[in-house]
Amino acid sequence: MNFMETIVRKIDKHQIDKEIIREAGEILQSGGLVAFPTETVYGLGADALKEEAARKTYEAKGRPSDNPLIVHIADYEDLKKIAVNIPPETDALASHFWPGPLTMIFEKSGQVPYGTTGGLDTVAVRMPRDPIAAELIRAAGGFVSAPSANTSGRPSPTTAEHVREDLDGKIDMILDAGDVDIGLESTILDMTVEPPMILRPGAITPDMFEEVIGPVSIDETILGSESEKPPKAPGMKYRHYAPRAKLVIVDGDLREEILAIRQLAYAAHRKGKEAGIIATGETLQFYKYGVVKNIGTRENEKTIARNLYRVLREFDEEDIDTIYSESFAMQGIGKAIMNRLEKAAGHLRIAAAAVVKEQRYRRIIFVSSTDSARGPMAAEILRHQDLMQEYVIDSMGMVALFPEPANQKAEAIMKSAQMTLKDHFSQQFDGEGIQDDTLVLAVEESQKKKIISEYGNIKNVYTINEFVDDDTEIPNPYGKPLTAYGECYEKLRKLIRKLAEKLNLLAGGEE
Ligand code: TXA
Ligand code: MG
Repeated sequence: MNFMETIVRKIDKHQIDKEIIREAGEILQSGGLVAFPTETVYGLGADALKEEAARKTYEAKGRPSDNPLIVHIADYEDLKKIAVNIPPETDALASHFWPGPLTMIFEKSGQVPYGTTGGLDTVAVRMPRDPIAAELIRAAGGFVSAPSANTSGRPSPTTAEHVREDLDGKIDMILDAGDVDIGLESTILDMTVEPPMILRPGAITPDMFEEVIGPVSIDETILGSESEKPPKAPGMKYRHYAPRAKLVIVDGDLREEILAIRQLAYAAHRKGKEAGIIATGETLQFYKYGVVKNIGTRENEKTIARNLYRVLREFDEEDIDTIYSESFAMQGIGKAIMNRLEKAAGHLRIAAAAVVKEQRYRRIIFVSSTDSARGPMAAEILRHQDLMQEYVIDSMGMVALFPEPANQKAEAIMKSAQMTLKDHFSQQFDGEGIQDDTLVLAVEESQKKKIISEYGNIKNVYTINEFVDDDTEIPNPYGKPLTAYGECYEKLRKLIRKLAEKLNLLAGGEE
């Protein structure tokens, strides 16, 4: 293919420069390629009625030529020139959703070359809402074929910069109007079947169609990997939108998803390779390891739709092998988000519960003599560590007959380290409610021995230093000056850090 100079023209949709539109329209009329903004994604425009223009489009995108193009129009009357046997519901749909993110499929007229439809007798038609797109289409003669303006197999472009990354030197012009509005491609509705069938989910949802024309059907291959049948929109069969790294969707309830991704990211970190994480504004704070990207807010799925492709592209710039993504709600545009994410993931998905289930310890109890200083300090220090799994962390005493607040010197030391024991009340250790996934850590050997002799059924009892393989003793500071509590704190801190490391190793699947 010949290298050509790609002209980039900035254009403002609120104040459209007619001269730029005229220039771009001429390029299209003479068989050239112009990328332009639409409200969904940037499109790679060509004259839809010229066989040769379609060939060029496929070549620039590196796209298989059996994958048909959508013909974009700017005026509803133009539909009749390219489609025949237009069903009566079309008027209502067009009046509600055109111009907008809806593509409808009809039987094609003789005007539309097979090059444009990938050899099919049907034609996909869309009337975009973006005013730049509308003016360009008119300037080009009314019929502009436009696939998404990306290299085949890359995420669709939501900025002109994305288009340039993929197609610079391969097309004549890019109209740069900044970020698109929706960020995912149009909903495709096949009007040649009864009732009409959704072939690709988008911003116009089944409920919205139902309100206008009654129930529509949905191509069963859209979601899930179960179906063996090929999808009805030829383009949907390709592993589109594929990021360079392996993308894995982590699926479960949100809490489990976070725990699972934390664990997976930590395991990757231990192996010296950071994982990518697709998180939301609400969950960002939970991830300590990995290359974390915020895809939007769960309160508004539209923000997620708008950022998805940009985030996938950004991951391509990172040195990562695997990306883990949270799952998103299926309401509204959510179905389209999950559909694109699934395709990007090549349908790789893991159950969060299965990852989280492998948690060896879920509860940790520190046992000291009276549960007033060493035990509660250890517990509180552990609560402040970066832990990859979630634990219930408690402390108890071998002789703590009445609930009493923590020792004041212990509290003073903890305060100077920005922690507090003010909510602590001592509890008696009575061996009850201890499960196989409870880890009992005694501050002294004597408490450990007592527990083992009195409660033979408790499985995991260690001293703290034994468990972390360190011989630091933690002497009882009771009755001693504040400095003794300070020394006790320092020793505990060292041991608890090692404990956190060991717990994280176990979480990452290592011994
Ligand atoms: O939002 C959009 O629709 C964007 C903007 C640029 O308008 N365009 C877009 O085009 O997404 P493209 O080429 O990336 O995707 C077109 C999809 C493909 O999956 C293709 O197989 C399907 O539409 N399609 C086109 N004509 C069809 C037809 N006659 N029958 C079934 N599917 C068709
Ligand atoms: Mg595409």
